[in-house]
Amino acid sequence: MYEQIKATAAWLDVQTADFRPETGIILGTGLGGFADHIDTKFSIEYKDIPGFPVSTVEGHKGRLIFGMIGDRRVVAMQGRFHFYEGYTMAQVTFPVRVLKLLGVEQLFVSNAAGGVNPSFKIGDLMVITDHINLMPNPLIGRNLDQMGTRFPDMHHCYDPRLIQQAMKIAAAEHVKLQQGVYAAGTGPTYETQAEYRYLRAIGADATGMSTVPEVIVARHMGVPVFGVSVITNVGLSDDPGDHEDVQRQGKLAGERMSNLFVKMIKNL
Ligand code: HPA
Repeated sequence: MYEQIKATAAWLDVQTADFRPETGIILGTGLGGFADHIDTKFSIEYKDIPGFPVSTVEGHKGRLIFGMIGDRRVVAMQGRFHFYEGYTMAQVTFPVRVLKLLGVEQLFVSNAAGGVNPSFKIGDLMVITDHINLMPNPLIGRNLDQMGTRFPDMHHCYDPRLIQQAMKIAAAEHVKLQQGVYAAGTGPTYETQAEYRYLRAIGADATGMSTVPEVIVARHMGVPVFGVSVITNVGLSDDPGDHEDVQRQGKLAGERMSNLFVKMIKNL
């Protein structure tokens, strides 16, 4: 597996003339619009990358975008691989390992999530301060010693310095930012009412079907992580909400998240 990761990274180095991105960004469902903020130098579809799994979900573009945000070199994953699609955990996390070999020094992750904290509203942004993993652990199996230790520590999984920076930027811009714990399940079902109550009881503020596998693998490699959830629904509410309003709120929240990411990356 390590050989495949190295081969894919070497192939990408050649394709991008040794671009060597400093920051990796994973764009969640509905958040692909962030790509408009990147001065694109190279755009490579997953299906053309040797060793990459191929994205199956409609609406996920499935490509790596190499480019500039200000004077920072970034690589964005537009579309990710979900466990519920049938990919193995090794496939779900393969791109993150490749990004590390490309030179990425920090990873920004994003997702659409259900609100579990009863004070959350549709369209809120939640900075992820910690997570609860309810999915199979992506590090199960033989340890890739070249990438990290057998028993990685998960304290400060989400970089405290980056969280602090986000809160500072949000305060200066008068942008409301929630903070909280993201619980990841396999999906593809949304939670029952009893499950939303259970998630609240165990300490979750939001829940979704992604992100945690990639974060665990990034932390295994010692890469600092910053994460944001866009709250697209509130689990403990009986009111499913007006569909058009939900879509509009999601779009506006996505734009606020993009602006936050851009400011943080320029500030790194
Ligand atoms: N549960 C799980 N995943 C989700 C949700 C949810 O309520 N909303 C968006 N992704």
